[in-house]
Amino acid sequence: MYSSGPLLALLAASLFATSVPAHPTSLPTREVELLHNVTIFTPPSTYTIPRTLYARTLLLETDDDEKDVLLATWENYTPDPELPYFPIFRSTDGGLTWAEISRVTDQVNGWGLRYQPFLYELPSAFGGFAAGTILCAGNSIPADLSATQIDLYASTDSGLTWKFVSKIASGGTAEPIDGLTPIWEPFLMLYEDEMILVHQTSTDLLTWGDVVDDVAYDVYDDRPGMTTVALLPNGSYIMTYEFFGAPEAAFAAYYRISDDPTAFNSAPGQVIQATDGTIPTSSPYITWSPAGGANGTLAVNAASDTDVYLNRCLGAPNAWTRVSTTEIASYSRNLRVLPNDILLITAAGPLGGSDNSVTTSSMDLSAITLAACD
Ligand SMILES: *[C@@H]1O[C@H](CO)[C@@H](O)[C@H](O)[C@H]1NC(C)=O
Ligand SMILES: *[C@@H]1O[C@H](CO)[C@@H](O)[C@H](O)[C@H]1NC(C)=O
Ligand SMILES: *[C@@H]1O[C@H](CO)[C@@H](O)[C@H](O)[C@H]1NC(C)=O
Repeated sequence: MYSSGPLLALLAASLFATSVPAHPTSLPTREVELLHNVTIFTPPSTYTIPRTLYARTLLLETDDDEKDVLLATWENYTPDPELPYFPIFRSTDGGLTWAEISRVTDQVNGWGLRYQPFLYELPSAFGGFAAGTILCAGNSIPADLSATQIDLYASTDSGLTWKFVSKIASGGTAEPIDGLTPIWEPFLMLYEDEMILVHQTSTDLLTWGDVVDDVAYDVYDDRPGMTTVALLPNGSYIMTYEFFGAPEAAFAAYYRISDDPTAFNSAPGQVIQATDGTIPTSSPYITWSPAGGANGTLAVNAASDTDVYLNRCLGAPNAWTRVSTTEIASYSRNLRVLPNDILLITAAGPLGGSDNSVTTSSMDLSAITLAACD
């Protein structure tokens, strides 16, 4: 729901890099225990409501093959006047137990790192950083919400320490109100030697190019936003976004497919409507898993319900199937593909929540049977 006007959706940040396997196919197959209702972090009652929101996870793919090292972070509403930071929690047992290993703190603005963190592992050397470097992008915002600044930090020691890299984009007051000019929600992806942020690009992580429209509508308050992108096995890219002005429902989850992830604005948008008629709404998140056959499985979730919407037909509009999960519904709930066809679903609570905490669950995508494609 933190969307910007069409002029700004352009800036709704998404760094992109490819030649990148979307999944660590080299990892050994082994028995995996499914997770249900694992608590990553329970904030103290002194935290400002909603206490936590907007979880993001990362599987360290260049790390030790023998164990799944996961990182998690989220919007962390520390009590005023403490400056907010992005906590970095680590699990070395596939998500069952978690411990804090570091904090990404604002090293340049004096505002704190307040909203919309995103974690990304460099799949190859880039911008002077080695493969395996962890990037953290997020929104630095002062306590009075008078400005938005998406900054980039890097860790060259698997998340233990963090250094400021660059300022990516700056915008106005941090409220999702038409007429204001905030920037929101970074999503990073390396694509053909360019790092894309949805949507500005960089070849060195230091300087960032002009804004590219990903989704721009002529109606000013249509407010497309919250873009995430996944690579399909046929080489095309799929982007989901929420569409406030959608004819089907406010903030309906929409998607576009394009051979070129820098050109989504010329691809047609379509609503995600499940085979049972449900239209998920608000803060959709998409990922792709190789589970479930030649097309793999596209998985989308949104803030409107606890379920996931699965598609094994390369995004065919009639092939989104609603499947239940054991995770709570959440604002910008995160999906992460793990080895062995596991999908990790991580939540930091709903927008209107009063005592949110950060929880995670997993499901085995290979155990789910879907109807054949047309
Ligand atoms: C998850 O765990 C918490 C804390 O143990 C508990 O209060 C809650 O009811 C559980 N939720 C589900 C859906 O099992
Ligand atoms: C991949 O599949 C999608 C969905 O069928 C299609 O729109 C797209 O053109 C395909 N891409 C390529 C490169 O064939
Ligand atoms: C993959 O998706 C395409 C496009 O929907 C479909 O025609 C094809 O049957 C699917 N393949 C499999 C193995 O399901």
